[in-house]
Amino acid sequence: MLQNLDSYFSEVEGYEIKDKESLEAFRLKYISKNGLVSGLFEEFKAVAPDQKKLFGSKLNQLKQLAEGRFKTIQDEIENQTAADDLAGFDFSLPLVPNPLGARHPLSITRSRIISIFEKIGFSVSDGPEIEDDYHNFTGLNFPPNHPAREMQDTFFIEKNPDMLLRTHTSTVQVRVMENQKPPIRSIMPGRVYRNEAISARAHCLFHQVEGLYIDKKVSFADLKNTLYYFVKELFGKDTQIRFRPSYFPFTEPSAEMDISCHICKGKGCNVCKHSGWVEIGGAGMVDPNVLETNGIDSQEFSGFAFGMGIERITMLKYGIKDLRLFTENDVRFLGQFKGNI
Ligand code: DAH
Repeated sequence: MLQNLDSYFSEVEGYEIKDKESLEAFRLKYISKNGLVSGLFEEFKAVAPDQKKLFGSKLNQLKQLAEGRFKTIQDEIENQTAADDLAGFDFSLPLVPNPLGARHPLSITRSRIISIFEKIGFSVSDGPEIEDDYHNFTGLNFPPNHPAREMQDTFFIEKNPDMLLRTHTSTVQVRVMENQKPPIRSIMPGRVYRNEAISARAHCLFHQVEGLYIDKKVSFADLKNTLYYFVKELFGKDTQIRFRPSYFPFTEPSAEMDISCHICKGKGCNVCKHSGWVEIGGAGMVDPNVLETNGIDSQEFSGFAFGMGIERITMLKYGIKDLRLFTENDVRFLGQFKGNI
């Protein structure tokens, strides 16, 4: 083979390359691992020592020739492809605008809620999602082994049963009371977790907003007025509100709050189960035990608290029927909230 070395020069030079395919065939034939040049280098090992110098330098020249041709033609083809892509392109066309994103409906509701409460002097507070038993239960007047703990299907942290994923944002009430002296006027939006099977109506993670108001002479009338104001701001002036007596360990008296169904305007539909009313949260006067446990004199101060579901409110506001839509990230759903802030 080495005898033919000279003839390979003209062969490499004369090989016709006109497109990507023939360029690839050229590469395979001459410079690939199993190509001619590699084969010649194999044979070169057996060349007599006195011939090595001559053959070695020729072989390297052949290699450079083949590689050089390959590179040059490869560049030419690439440039040509780029030029072809632009041929016929109308440079005067206007730019395609970047599609505008939309805020997540839960973020929209969250900021609406915050701005409504900020107008009447509430600040925003925050707390951890991984909590201890004290802030989720004990500090909120849940006695040990009390069945009320069972009302909330808690995810406990396996390695440390004192730690858990908070089941409600009421935990932040305790943290606020620990760190602030009355008067306290704060709302606390955040994510909460419960061990529930995921369905159209339930999820293992969702969002709540908690409210806490502690001062001298705070009454149930203040609670009602605050929530009336909030509901009318958010859902409109014609929305009706009602309170039903209820029980929570951390409030006394306690109530559940319903609003007239926003979807059917109180006439009755599937969402309100034909009652005309839908529940949006719980509320009540802060139990004096909770105040005392958290270092606030219950003789001097009183307060109210409330907790509402952000998903719930968003579903009512926009007529969303399935809770799972909030976490699936389907752009066909999310895109419908464009323009809302
Ligand atoms: N934490 C309660 C729950 O998740 C909701 C709630 C009820 C919060 C009454 C409150 C309240 O602050 O006063 O079910």
